[in-house]
Parts: sequence; C-alpha cells; structure tokens
Amino acid sequence: MANGVDGDLVGLETELMAAVAAAADLDGLEEARVAALGRKGKLTALMRGLGELGADARKARATALNLLKDRLGAALDAKKETLGAAAIEARLARERIDVTLPVRPESAGRIHPVSHVVDEITAIFADMGFAIAEGPDIEDDFHNFEALNIPAEHPARQMMDTFYLRDDASGGRKVLRTHTSPVQIRHMQAHQPPYRIIAPGRVYRCDSDMTHSPMFHQVEGLAIDRAIHMGHLKGCLFEFARSYFEVDRLRVRFRPSHFPFTEPSAEMDIGCAWKDGELRIGEGDDWLEILGCGMVHPKVLTAAGVDPTQWQGFAFGMGIDRIAMLKYGIPDLRAFFESDLRWLRHYGFSALDQPSLAEGLAL
Ligand code: PHE
Repeated sequence: MANGVDGDLVGLETELMAAVAAAADLDGLEEARVAALGRKGKLTALMRGLGELGADARKARATALNLLKDRLGAALDAKKETLGAAAIEARLARERIDVTLPVRPESAGRIHPVSHVVDEITAIFADMGFAIAEGPDIEDDFHNFEALNIPAEHPARQMMDTFYLRDDASGGRKVLRTHTSPVQIRHMQAHQPPYRIIAPGRVYRCDSDMTHSPMFHQVEGLAIDRAIHMGHLKGCLFEFARSYFEVDRLRVRFRPSHFPFTEPSAEMDIGCAWKDGELRIGEGDDWLEILGCGMVHPKVLTAAGVDPTQWQGFAFGMGIDRIAMLKYGIPDLRAFFESDLRWLRHYGFSALDQPSLAEGLAL
C-alpha cells in the first residue's frame, strides 16, 4: 500500500488536515491551502521531488501523493462551504434592519372597556353579515316613540324616564333618545330591505345609582328579510352570547316579555353561578338577563315604510355597559364615566389589540 511505503505522508496529512480544520475564516483557509498546495507548499515540494525517484518507486509515490492531494482538496472544499455559509449568516445578521416601528410612548393610553366591547360586538355581528348603522342622540318623538308603536300616554314613555329638550320653533319637543331602537326606524326609512344591521350608541334616561347612569350605551340589532322567523333570532343571539362570553357550552334561555315594538317579545338570559360573591358565567344554575328582543311588530314596519305583508324580521337591544361589567367583572357602572385614570389603567385595553374572532376577543 502506498501509505505503508510512504509512512512520512501520514504525519504530513494529519498536519495539513489539522491546519484546514483550524482555519477560522476564508483567509485562514486560503493560508492553509497555500501552505500545502501553493508554489512553495509542502505537498508541492514532495510532488517536485518525484523526478528524483526510480520509475517504480515514482509511480507508487505519485499515486500516494495524488490521493493525499484529493483528500486535502475535498477537505478544503468542504471547509470553504461551511465558512462561506457562516460568513453570509454573519453578514446578514450584521446588516439586518428592524423595520418594525418601536412602540410609541403615546400608545401607553388604554382603550375604555365600552369602546373595546363595542369592537367585540361588532366583530361578532360583522361575521354574521351585519353592517353598522347610526342615528342621532337627539331624537324626535316620532322616531323614539311613535313609530315604535309607543303612542302618547303609553306607559312605556314614563317607564323610560325621558330627558326632554325645550320645545322648538315648530312646537315639536325633541328628546335625548332613550334607546337605540329609533335607529331601526331611520334605517328602514332610508333603505330597501333586506338588511341586517347593528347600531351601537349612547342612550339617555333620567336615572342614577350603582347600576344606572343617566347616559349609557346600547346596541340595537335589526334583521329584515322575506322569511325571517324566531328561529333565526334565537340562533343569532345564541351564537352571539357564546362568542361574546367565550363559553362554548353557555346555557341560554328566552323568557316571554313585552315591548310595544316587537311581537312576540322575549328577554334572553344566560346561565351563571355566584361563587364566593363572584359571578361565573356558564356555570351553575342561576340566570342573568342580558337583552330584550322579538319579532318586529307589523305596525313598526308600516310606520317605517316597509310592507309587512312582504317583509318581516327580528330586533334586539342590549346594554353594552352591562355586558361589559358582566364579562370583565366591573362592579360599579358609575366608574365607567368618572374618567379616573387609575380605573382606566386597570380595566382598559391595549390600543394595539384589535378584537377579532380569529385572534380572540378579550386579549
Ligand atoms: N329598546 C329596548 C330597550 O331599550 C330593547 C329592545 C330592542 C327590545 C329591540 C326588543 C327589540 O329596553
């Protein structure tokens, strides 16, 4: 065997290979290559020495040297590849640019729970095909009462503790809307059915205690089409409650109720338990009311210019502050409107987290 004959080559190979392995970068590797294969390299010198040997010895020695040269060449190539890749990695790391914007100091502010819950509700109903509708806070008697089948002298007018504005020039007396239901009327007057809308906004009633504030928030819902029935109402509100409270197996029930603008009317309750003074939604066998709903009364459709022989649908109304308190365990409604920064920091939400069904609502 060539290696047996050329015992001196074993030591040389070990030395040359060690130099290749020790090269820390491409320059170092080039040095190792030159030291072996350059003009004055150790292997080159041995190659030159071949001429001095006899024919047989030369042949065997040449084979051994060439094999060594091949192995060294392969080691050099392999090392070059690793060092090359490492060099690119190092350069990429060095030249990396962070294109994300730093969090700006002003984003330290918090989103009010009411705004956040409006975003959550919007995300859920948008997913079911509902659009957003709006109406004015200062309403006329027709939209807030009359068209909703609440005629003058109807007891519901007293129940609502209405704030009245001064009589205007035409003798009409405007009110601060007592619910978001007038948005139903405005939307039906301005659009051709079918439609599905929700209308979040402020409402006003002359009332104030732990759970009542003279200004609070509601979200109205309205779905009108040719064949909408109570099953659609239930399915839609079941789905809403389960998504909003983020409890898949939430128990829900409908209780018969009365509203002048819906027939039949119902109130929806969700299942809950009180444990150690704490409310647990989705557990136990207590019930909590969360909204009013029903099939839109034919008189309401007529008043808003929609033909009740062609169209029908459901409506619902829900207190936003109330469901925010229930979900986030906020004890006193009045704190919502006191603008206390400590409260807001505690109960508020990050401005960078937008609720969505895919990424989660509460965040
Ligand atoms: N407007 C009712 C309220 O303020 C809620 C409601 C809306 C009920 C729509 C039924 C249908 O209590």
